[in-house]
Amino acid sequence: MIRVLIVNGPNLNLLGARETDVYGNSTLEDIEALVASSASEQGVEVGFFQSNHEGAIIDAIQEAPGHYDAVVMNPGAFTHYSYALRDAVAAIALPVVEVHLSNIASREAFRSVSVIAPVCVGQISGFGPNSYALGLSAAVLAVGSRS
Ligand code: DQA
Repeated sequence: MIRVLIVNGPNLNLLGARETDVYGNSTLEDIEALVASSASEQGVEVGFFQSNHEGAIIDAIQEAPGHYDAVVMNPGAFTHYSYALRDAVAAIALPVVEVHLSNIASREAFRSVSVIAPVCVGQISGFGPNSYALGLSAAVLAVGSRS
């Protein structure tokens, strides 16, 4: 069974209450439930991790190999400037899919740059909670094309 780790970065624990005009009303728990049901339909095992701390996210990425076959990550604002997180993604052999609820290309200029995306297999942005379900499918495809 393919195992996928779903990682959420800073402030994503506030979904449902945070800037609902941009991010919608779903909580992180709602999104995790959506991903879990899509995973069980696809026969995929999923694990969830969220942290507001860059180092804790780096630890989770470093520890993923051996436990998971792929990672789906919404790095939050770290997307735009964390070279340390980028290096962690580049350091592991697993495919990583970057996801965003909002369309980062259509917002402030600083959000249109992802320093993480170049070391990911791809990026999904702008589909709200469905970005995660699409990210999961993309991760499964990426694992399949590697094996
Ligand atoms: C986000 C977009 C980022 O720019 C922002 O800092 C977030 C959420 C998204 O899912 O749309 O925290 O990653």
